[in-house]
Amino acid sequence: MPELEQFAAPGSEWWRSAVIYQIYPRSFADASGDGIGDLPGITARLDSLSELGVDAIWLSPFMTSPQRDAGYDVADYRDVDPLFGTLADFDDMLAQAHARGIRVIVDLVPNHSSDQHAWFQAALAAGPGSPERARYIFRDGRGENGELPPNNWQSVFGGGMWECVTEADGTPGQWYLHIFDATQPDFDWTNEEVREEFRSILRFWLDRGVDGFRVDVAHGMVKKEGLPDYTPPADADSMGGGEDDVPYWGQDGVHDIYRDWHKVLAAYDGDRALCGEAWMPTLHQTAMWVRPDEMHQTFNFPYLLTPWDAEALRAVIRESLDEFGAVGAPSTWVLSNHDVVRHASRLALTADNPQGEGIGPNSPGKPDPVVGLARGRAATTVMLALPGSAYLYQGEELGLPEAMEIPDEFRQDPTWFRTNGERYGRDGCRVPLPWTAEGPAYGFNDTGASWLPQPAEWAEYARDVEETADDSTLALYKLLLRLRREHGLGTGALVWEDLGADAVAFRRGDLHVAANLGSAPLALPEGAHFVVQSARFEGAALPVNAAAWYTLP
Ligand code: GLC
Repeated sequence: MPELEQFAAPGSEWWRSAVIYQIYPRSFADASGDGIGDLPGITARLDSLSELGVDAIWLSPFMTSPQRDAGYDVADYRDVDPLFGTLADFDDMLAQAHARGIRVIVDLVPNHSSDQHAWFQAALAAGPGSPERARYIFRDGRGENGELPPNNWQSVFGGGMWECVTEADGTPGQWYLHIFDATQPDFDWTNEEVREEFRSILRFWLDRGVDGFRVDVAHGMVKKEGLPDYTPPADADSMGGGEDDVPYWGQDGVHDIYRDWHKVLAAYDGDRALCGEAWMPTLHQTAMWVRPDEMHQTFNFPYLLTPWDAEALRAVIRESLDEFGAVGAPSTWVLSNHDVVRHASRLALTADNPQGEGIGPNSPGKPDPVVGLARGRAATTVMLALPGSAYLYQGEELGLPEAMEIPDEFRQDPTWFRTNGERYGRDGCRVPLPWTAEGPAYGFNDTGASWLPQPAEWAEYARDVEETADDSTLALYKLLLRLRREHGLGTGALVWEDLGADAVAFRRGDLHVAANLGSAPLALPEGAHFVVQSARFEGAALPVNAAAWYTLP
């Protein structure tokens, strides 16, 4: 393999190199004790994030919501749901994060609202042909009496993508489109009133001082003209990440919306940023979201979806740097979030598991936990050495595995209900965090209530236990984040090195990085002095499923 230098796109804005920690508010820390995490809980735990060494936090939605999709069904975009606190609690959290030098990104859900949103209720009341209905995607049904849905699209969560409403006179009426749950009607983004409303929502949060937005379903907001029928392949990922030419994903028109939002953000000081959630099949397409006048970042899902395979991992890193570099954007890197199986489990699965399917008691191919954790730690050790911006998901710094044995009666993901239990969905990565080995709910609160049951082995992963063990996953993350900052690894060049087919190896300045994805120990150059080992080892041979950072004499 020739030595090839690859650069992260230059620029000094904070988001080009930031490590951004995703907080899933329901499951982070619960100050009120009702079993669901909240904003005061986050504020109380900010010191733990300063100690971890992250640059920013992204909060999944905490706005007013009936919680049919864990807050991704927003009924009021300008207020905090009482479950999570108040706007004053938000302002306090933001001020306290900023005081610690931590930036704050909030989740924006523009593809759909909750059916409890005032606009949707008005649309139901106003009837066909009204301006109220024109904010959403209402259509007449097919069939003699309109009894069939307008097309064959299937919801991401299972079942059809259309719901028939009952009109004011009691007769079956029009149908509305919902990519997700029936309680999440899609907005019609061809309507200027919708566009103006979201500009105003962006300004509402920017005026409060947020540093940016993570934009939910950023590839779904525009649908193909005429809404033509479409049938995805049977093994498709739920968000469309592997499919080409889907009439509701990645339509060209979405980019106009982001060009418009770019201008809204640019009018503010402080390098406010947009990060898109766009599941596109190729990195080339993914990079279209971050052309210079559009979003600033977009999640690198092709990287997240890469299996534990050296050739595939080298290829996706190479291509990421090329494709994002070509549009002048930093690559992002992400291994876990609230929609995928945690990477300390996912990287050791032995059966196919499309994104969104989840793992439960009856799933095939469950991972060996020891192999999973070793690979998870090694994968992060590689990721945090890459130039660009990295996203961490709460709990991965503890090495948490997926919770795979949640009893059916506790499940809450709409996917589970809409597929009649055929797909477990995403509850397994959303279980409340263990802060202490002892005490109610492992320190998540002081009442013991927890909206999803915490597995018994959570005690081993509790933060207070990991804080005192110098070979814990938490200690590894802290070390990686400190050295990443000290060596300025978020920007600059990456030089590939050749350590054989089973290795991923590159150099960042004086620091060498290597991971062993093969099945035999991997010899490293003579005299290697290790500064990070994802798992403790003696000598210069990198164990299977391990990664290291080292210098050479
Ligand atoms: C995004 C969110 C996911 C949610 C969906 C619908 O994919 O990350 O959690 O269910 O959008 O809003």
